[in-house]
Amino acid sequence: MKSVNQDTITDAFVAYCEKTTSPRLKLVLSKLAAHLHAFTKEVALTHEEWRTAMTLLDRAGQISSPERSEFILFSDVLGLTSLVDMINSGDGRTEYSNLGPFYIAGAQWLEVGGDLIGGNGGDPVVFYGQVFDAAGRTPVPGAVLELWQTASNGLYSNQDPKQPAGNLRCRMKTGANGEYAFSTVRPAPYTVPEDGPVGDLLRATGRRPWRPAHFHFLISAAGLRPLTTEIFPDDDPYIDEDPVFGVREQLVVRLVKETDSSVIPFPLAAANRLKRPFYRIHYDFLI
Ligand code: BEZ
Ligand code: FE
Repeated sequence: MKSVNQDTITDAFVAYCEKTTSPRLKLVLSKLAAHLHAFTKEVALTHEEWRTAMTLLDRAGQISSPERSEFILFSDVLGLTSLVDMINSGDGRTEYSNLGPFYIAGAQWLEVGGDLIGGNGGDPVVFYGQVFDAAGRTPVPGAVLELWQTASNGLYSNQDPKQPAGNLRCRMKTGANGEYAFSTVRPAPYTVPEDGPVGDLLRATGRRPWRPAHFHFLISAAGLRPLTTEIFPDDDPYIDEDPVFGVREQLVVRLVKETDSSVIPFPLAAANRLKRPFYRIHYDFLI
């Protein structure tokens, strides 16, 4: 009979996985078990604590749906999602940040300089820049930039029946010099879902559920790795306590107040009806 004890359980697990054909899966599973076992021993986890954790996971399963993954939210608030983004960023590319649950594929196409303000209230913003290939620092024409953001009430179009379908979302093909530009409104901070076990965890640890306002981008171009990231206005009250750890220095921008739209180096569809003052954000993406 093979007896397993505290000192041999990790090696026993690794031996059980001996027949794993993928070397990567073998490595990831054996390290996961090693760290999990070491953690359990270090904190001397009690039965009650183990039961609490399993109940949280059960509740995460029960509250999850095709539109809501409480498991991803756990990953987000534990810093796991952002850590994966951080370790996979680099090579001079713009840093990755959260995709979040509110992305919808297939948003309306907008020309460079197009307008998303439409009937939205809130501070007008003109957001523009170029997309560059990080390897050669050359502009990327024809890259597809997808944007989604909240309205000034802190809700995405797919959370708010009062917003028109596809509100404050677009796809845009960059121009000959990799340029993009659009007018929009300033997004607002919002809370991550807090009616499930993740909310209980945040409350138990005295954390606030507010994400600082941000613009989401997904940028793709032939032959280059797609970039998922977020851009954060620097004056947001929650900028230093994002519950999902998405904020990076490189992704924080200052909104510059302007009254003259001719400072924008691209023609704007909304130039004549843009409320003054408006905010200007200039940001170049490296993918
Ligand atoms: C978001 O930015 O849309 C988001 C990210 C993580 C959790 C909830 C929302
Ligand atoms: Fe978001």
